[in-house]
Amino acid sequence: MALRCYRLFLTQNQSVLRPLDRGQGELLLITRPAVGNETKCHYSVGPRLITPIEEARRFMTDCFLAVGTPKEHAEIVSENLFEADYRGHYSHGMNRLEMYIRDIQHNSSDAKAVPCILKETAATALVDGKNGLGAVVGERCMALAIKKAKEVGIGFVVARGSNHFGIAGKYAMQAIDEGLLGMSFSNTSPFMTPTRAKTATLGTNPLSLGAPATKGDSFVLDMATTAVAVGKIELARRKQEPIPEGWALNDQGMPETNPTIAYKSAKLMPLGGTEVNSGYKGYGLGMLVEIFSGILSGSAYGPHIRKWGQADKLANLGHAFMAIDPSAFEPGFEDRLSDLLNYARNLEPADPAKPVLAHGDKERQHMEKVKKDGGFRYVENQHSTNDKLAKELKVKPMESKTVNLPADDD
Ligand SMILES: NC(=O)c1ccc[n+]([C@@H]2O[C@H](COP(=O)([O-])OP(=O)(O)OC[C@H]3O[C@@H](n4cnc5c(N)ncnc54)[C@H](O)[C@@H]3O)[C@@H](O)[C@H]2O)c1
Repeated sequence: MALRCYRLFLTQNQSVLRPLDRGQGELLLITRPAVGNETKCHYSVGPRLITPIEEARRFMTDCFLAVGTPKEHAEIVSENLFEADYRGHYSHGMNRLEMYIRDIQHNSSDAKAVPCILKETAATALVDGKNGLGAVVGERCMALAIKKAKEVGIGFVVARGSNHFGIAGKYAMQAIDEGLLGMSFSNTSPFMTPTRAKTATLGTNPLSLGAPATKGDSFVLDMATTAVAVGKIELARRKQEPIPEGWALNDQGMPETNPTIAYKSAKLMPLGGTEVNSGYKGYGLGMLVEIFSGILSGSAYGPHIRKWGQADKLANLGHAFMAIDPSAFEPGFEDRLSDLLNYARNLEPADPAKPVLAHGDKERQHMEKVKKDGGFRYVENQHSTNDKLAKELKVKPMESKTVNLPADDD
């Protein structure tokens, strides 16, 4: 029988080790570690459920259409969620489908809304998202920033009246597709506790910079300004896995590793974690995103944004998008960027098994894995959520196939 090996970490709060997401293989052997130590366990490699790429897209689009979303908007938002899964950010992909559907059903967001320009110069625009889908607002705003960058070298567009816009990198890559540099920012519901505070005040406020290099290569920095995106805690909760120390605090302001308690207390640590580890720099980056997204646009900001999951108040989120034409500067941008990216990638790694990466490489590797698998490996919980949603919305359930994967294939 084929075996697969995993590392486990036992924390103070755990009495049982349950790494449930590791396929449907059977746990064969486990050496229980001392608290705070790592151990290895072995699984038989069982069959995995694989959802073909096009089927995932089809299912999400059908769900949006079923709640009255215009086809064009349904395709934009499905593509946004799809891209998150494809790039390995499962927290921001199909994991968000039910939340977006509920927002539409409860009129918390307007799937039909078309964003409009309130104010404009050659290089800037202020947009009202009209409480539309964040992915639609984002796609339109970045398209406008790109148009301006092609005309005058730079375009900077901010939006208010929007909703959750998914992965920030999607908009940066929209600019890369046009040979431009792209940046995107969004404020979000308060989750981050500023250094020295006990109250969540800023969101996970993501930012992204995408830049084109040669031969289709690119740099894509796409990150939350908290230690992690809240979706990662949500996903750990779905998988019933502990979270590492340094991600979140509990209500007493102490580091928490239980994902259910951490999700409830809703107090994420800024990037960097504690003050001694320079967490105040992550706090500063979160402020930077808030200044571009919320303060410039006149959207809700910081602690005034509705709480995560609160349905009786509009989100009124703010975003910012920048596109820059490299040809407005020194020629040869793409060549120099490729040179730098490859220099970094070719550095001798500290661990030979872990080559040095450039930002965006991890996601590229994940895309290759998805292609090799012929689809997505969604966690079991995602399948059951989808089945219920399909039944309720009367759409064709998502079809997946059972595949036996080789032993060395994680
Ligand atoms: N819309 C929202 O409200 C919201 C809020 C927070 C986060 N997000 C999204 O969640 C996603 C996940 O965010 P995250 O902060 O957890 O991302 P992450 O920590 O997984 O990755 C952050 C960045 O680091 C790069 N990276 C990872 N490992 C690397 C390595 N070894 N060497 C070099 N680069 C490496 C990645 O390519 C990526 O650009 C992002 O797409 C983000 O936009 C969205």
